[in-house]
Amino acid sequence: MGEKVYLKNFGCQMNVRDSEVICGILKKEGYEITDEPDGADIVIFNTCSVRQHAEDKVWSEIGRIAKIGKMGTVPKRRGQSPFSPQNRPLIGLVGCMAQNYKEKIFERAPNVSFVVGPSDIAKIPRILNDIIRQGKRGQSPKGGDSPLFQLKIWETDGDIRPEEIYHTGFYEDKEHAYVVISEGCSNYCSYCVVPYVRGELRNRNYKEILKEIEEAVDKGITSITLLGQNVNAYKYGDTDFVELVKLVELVRGLKEFSFITSHPKDTSLDLFEAMADSEKLKKYLHLPMQSGSDRILKLMNRGYTRKFYLDLADNYRKIVKDATLTTDIIVGFPTEAESDFNDTYNLVKDIEFDAAYIFKYSPRPNTKALNLDDNVTKEEKEKRHKIILDLQREISRNSNIKNQISK
Ligand code: SAH
Ligand code: SF4
Ligand code: F3S
Repeated sequence: MGEKVYLKNFGCQMNVRDSEVICGILKKEGYEITDEPDGADIVIFNTCSVRQHAEDKVWSEIGRIAKIGKMGTVPKRRGQSPFSPQNRPLIGLVGCMAQNYKEKIFERAPNVSFVVGPSDIAKIPRILNDIIRQGKRGQSPKGGDSPLFQLKIWETDGDIRPEEIYHTGFYEDKEHAYVVISEGCSNYCSYCVVPYVRGELRNRNYKEILKEIEEAVDKGITSITLLGQNVNAYKYGDTDFVELVKLVELVRGLKEFSFITSHPKDTSLDLFEAMADSEKLKKYLHLPMQSGSDRILKLMNRGYTRKFYLDLADNYRKIVKDATLTTDIIVGFPTEAESDFNDTYNLVKDIEFDAAYIFKYSPRPNTKALNLDDNVTKEEKEKRHKIILDLQREISRNSNIKNQISK
């Protein structure tokens, strides 16, 4: 029987799908995937770098595992350290933090044995094989009494993922599947690390996307979510996102689908019309607004104005009946004054989102916003976060009540 792999996911839906992809390719190679960290031979963390908080969670989790050794394993002989390599699982850190820190991960977390960026996940079986088999044969380049844990490998130079990795048929859910339509992002919003850790936008061939959906439907999947950092920017040859949506609609056996995430600057009325006409598309749009202040939107490099966003939201609700609208908001972006914050507050109040995810600005490596002074204090960020959160809670509560009455 193969080694047991436990994979813990952090981050966005893109990472959820990547974790399935990793499990799928490892299963094909004979590894056993386990839901239980206890007794796992290999522990993989699929990580997120979008905010400092996301990274902090991973560092503390790695520290925790380092302390307990191979989870659930009691030292066999008295005097044998629970921290001895034999008792420890092999730890890998993959995903966005891997790309962000590369081999520096080993300095901060010496118990990590391999580091793999998002574009290199196809190489994980080869890497594991190198570590485990070479380790067993005692061929670690660095020697030592436990070569298994001294061979450190990192892969963060990948460019294009091979298509096969999307076709292993491994999905966590029996009925719903995430389907990646594009990888990376070329928008370079000034606060965002994604283009640096995921690379520039690459679109998958729509024929492969449709093939994957058909394969999933054959396995009993009835609902899918098309995934990309900016799905609206999808383009493969002459096929754009609206065209793709129309093709997915035609897949036999598929009952419903949706997509995330939409960028306001690339979202068109054509898409809303396609949504209105479609029988299978869920009437749901996640349209991150980020800020209601034109000055801040410009500093964020978002490529739209407050008025543009408001008109887009209005048109969406006019064209797509009984539709749900959700958003993301960042408070405390550098230089955000009380008046900028009020612009955001008022826009949230006017639009009445069904739900809003509110984040406190977190400075990220490589990003343009790092050159701006992060001058909104922690306390002020917290205060603004709470004000919008309370406002949105009130709006969501009222909209739930309205929905219940109309049902
Ligand atoms: N591609 C998507 C999702 C990006 S990450 C999009 O463009 O919307 C998800 C959300 O995290 C973003 O919408 C943004 O609101 C938030 N975010 C990204 N970087 C951040 C940062 N440095 N600090 C705080 N929030 C951030
Ligand atoms: Fe980040 Fe902007 Fe790309 Fe979203 S669109 S992933 S916020 S750079
Ligand atoms: Fe996080 Fe990477 Fe997604 S930084 S939000 S896991 S693309």
